[in-house]
Amino acid sequence: GSGKFFVGGNWKCNGSKESIGKLVSELNNATLEADVDVVVAPPFVYIDQVKNSLVNSRIQIAAQNCWTGKGGAFTGEISVEQIKDIGAGWVVLGHSERRHIIGEDDQFIGKKAAYALSQDLGVIACIGELLEEREAGRTFEVCFQQLKAYADAVSSWDKIVIAYEPVWAIGTGKVATPEQAQEVHDAVRDWLRKNVSTEVASKTRIIYGGSVNGGNSSELAKQEDIDGFLVGGASLKGVEFAAIVNSV
Ligand code: G3H
Repeated sequence: GSGKFFVGGNWKCNGSKESIGKLVSELNNATLEADVDVVVAPPFVYIDQVKNSLVNSRIQIAAQNCWTGKGGAFTGEISVEQIKDIGAGWVVLGHSERRHIIGEDDQFIGKKAAYALSQDLGVIACIGELLEEREAGRTFEVCFQQLKAYADAVSSWDKIVIAYEPVWAIGTGKVATPEQAQEVHDAVRDWLRKNVSTEVASKTRIIYGGSVNGGNSSELAKQEDIDGFLVGGASLKGVEFAAIVNSV
């Protein structure tokens, strides 16, 4: 693995003031492994609530999206400056739900990543293939194309964590096997070595997402190139999320 283990909880478009209050109190009561970066991504409207009620100051906050540049007349958007102002240190970009449901493309995602990094916001840069792409033998090609879009847009990889999330594994209960995940993580690292630099390849954390839970995380965590997780459904349960954090 590369560097400190990193576990993100992507709450997606879930929760209410009440359920999020309960989740935060579960996280406040949890014992979390010291040597892990822990980040939660609440919906924008609850970031302030989460920030103010988390007593565990080592849990960092991510936004689930951001605008491509400085704020202004962009109705409905949230700027990087606002995300930082409210106390979040990260943003999730390129998630498959935004690519495939909302229709964001590589270029748009790359622009967001570049702007976020220019303002010193960390980026959880997601990539991953659809089932039909895997079945057609195109997994590496698809992931490399998505990686290239980030690489073309950004000038530094210091604050990027790559999240490999095969779309067929997201929210389906069909987790990738440790071997399937490791194969892609290794290929991603190799791509970085050849196309960015040896240093970036060895330092960049590559985390896995897609049906990670308290029961499968430790086997996945043993793989050489799996440096953490991006957890969806199971991150909505504080006790289970803590177990995943502690599975390293
Ligand atoms: O960002 C998180 C992923 O989309 C994984 O979601 O754990 O519910 O499969 P999931």
